[in-house]
Amino acid sequence: MDNVISRFSTQTYKPPDRFGPYIFKANKYDKFPDEKGLKSSHIIGAILGASVFLLLLMIAGIYALKQKKRAERANDQINPFAKWDANQNSVDAPQLMGVKAFTFEEMRKCANNFSVANDVGGGGYGQVYKGILPSGQLIAIKRAQPGSLQGALEFKTEIELLSRVHHKNVVKLLGFCFDRGEQMLVYEYIPNGSLRDSLSGKNGIRLDWTRRLRIALGSGKGLAYLHELADPPIIHRDVKSSNILLDESLAAKVADFGLSQLVEEAEKANVTAQVKGTMGYLDPEYYMTNQLTEKSDVYGFGVMMLELLTGEIPIVNGKYVVKEVKMKMNKSKKLYDLQELLDTTIISTNENLKGFEKFVNLALICVDQEGVKRPSMNEVVKEIEYIMQHAGLYPNVDSAASSRTYDEASKGSGDLYRNNSFEYSASFPTTKLEPH
Ligand SMILES: *[C@@H]1O[C@H](CO)[C@@H](O)[C@H](O)[C@H]1NC(C)=O
Ligand SMILES: *[C@@H]1O[C@H](CO)[C@@H](O)[C@H](O)[C@H]1NC(C)=O
Ligand SMILES: *[C@@H]1O[C@H](CO)[C@@H](O)[C@H](O)[C@H]1NC(C)=O
Ligand SMILES: *[C@@H]1O[C@H](CO)[C@@H](O)[C@H](O)[C@H]1NC(C)=O
Ligand SMILES: *[C@@H]1O[C@H](CO)[C@@H](O)[C@H](O)[C@H]1NC(C)=O
Repeated sequence: MDNVISRFSTQTYKPPDRFGPYIFKANKYDKFPDEKGLKSSHIIGAILGASVFLLLLMIAGIYALKQKKRAERANDQINPFAKWDANQNSVDAPQLMGVKAFTFEEMRKCANNFSVANDVGGGGYGQVYKGILPSGQLIAIKRAQPGSLQGALEFKTEIELLSRVHHKNVVKLLGFCFDRGEQMLVYEYIPNGSLRDSLSGKNGIRLDWTRRLRIALGSGKGLAYLHELADPPIIHRDVKSSNILLDESLAAKVADFGLSQLVEEAEKANVTAQVKGTMGYLDPEYYMTNQLTEKSDVYGFGVMMLELLTGEIPIVNGKYVVKEVKMKMNKSKKLYDLQELLDTTIISTNENLKGFEKFVNLALICVDQEGVKRPSMNEVVKEIEYIMQHAGLYPNVDSAASSRTYDEASKGSGDLYRNNSFEYSASFPTTKLEPH
């Protein structure tokens, strides 16, 4: 018997020879008094005790809740994104769909320690660094410098706003960093630099007439989206060639919302809003009245259209392109007699500058002194599409790289529109703005 147990089990307990079930026998408990002995004072005492205990429990519970709320509030003040990180399905989170929160360490690694080699430019607010995510995706990190940090709530508002903007002609926000007292915005990287870089010939990209039309169209669509389809609508406030970026196929992307402002906020702020923008592109009406509308962006866009013609920044040696064009132009002459103002790149190539006069007309109504007389960005887009269709180009092809000369293109669909009226017509078939 002993051997059997030790061989098949690890049991060390040896049962007695006469092994059987253990039985517990309870002794009779006679300490309780019988029913009659239960005094009412005992009952009252018991109830009182229970009540006090419950009360204490409740007080403790309320205190704990309050502490928790206070901690959360404090946390919100320090980091408004704390909650968004934690539970992605909370009420706030959907506003940040597709936008990732990065730590400072992640950013530092992506941007090679924010080295000079990764520095791709900057402005008053800070520097922009080129970086690469672990996934291999290239990014542009806009890093605010200490002097231009926003309040946490303003920063949060800006990110919520930017995260809702989705259009193929607007630079996409991928994430942000709100860590270690730093504020950074993480954008998709746009490889071919700004329109200004290309116009100056700095980056070796040659922009022929067709490419310029496509860039005008693309950036116009981006702005029209911001004005009319973004929710809430956005006024860019700093439309200029250095804020239009060109992607690998030279499609235009509207960038830098550093000065952007919600339309609602602008209306509330009305006269108090500080005039911001860049000399040369600044809407004179906005400058005079401080009243910001979408038409201020239209003005900047008109200046940029003229810049596409001259290749120069708007003010050169104290001469303002808007004034120069108006002074020199003679509508009864070929190319409005503006040849001497034009960028040699588009003049020298013997390109047929098809639609040139319409383009100049459009630019000039965009820079009208009075905002109400300027077209909306949507109307500008339609007109550029119209100009391009007349030039035998396909405005729906986004890539400006697939540039064709007018002569090539006119053999194609251009014939369809050969003898349509050149007058502006809103009913002319155009593509709709698509939020992608
Ligand atoms: C990054 O910069 C910090 C501080 O400037 C320095 O201590 C560190 O060695 C640098 N790391 C690399 C990988 O360059
Ligand atoms: C635009 O950038 C891409 C990628 O950097 C490059 O391959 C391409 O040649 C550039 N386009 C032009 C027209 O230079
Ligand atoms: C806002 O603009 C309107 C229209 O010009 C003006 O009448 C109004 O006084 C302004 N509001 C404030 C608060 O300045
Ligand atoms: C515009 O050109 C026409 C035709 O060459 C000429 O007769 C006219 O005087 C010019 N107008 C101005 C203001 O120079
Ligand atoms: C183009 O003009 C010709 C001759 O004036 C006319 O017969 C034809 O209908 C026009 N085509 C279109 C598409 O308007």
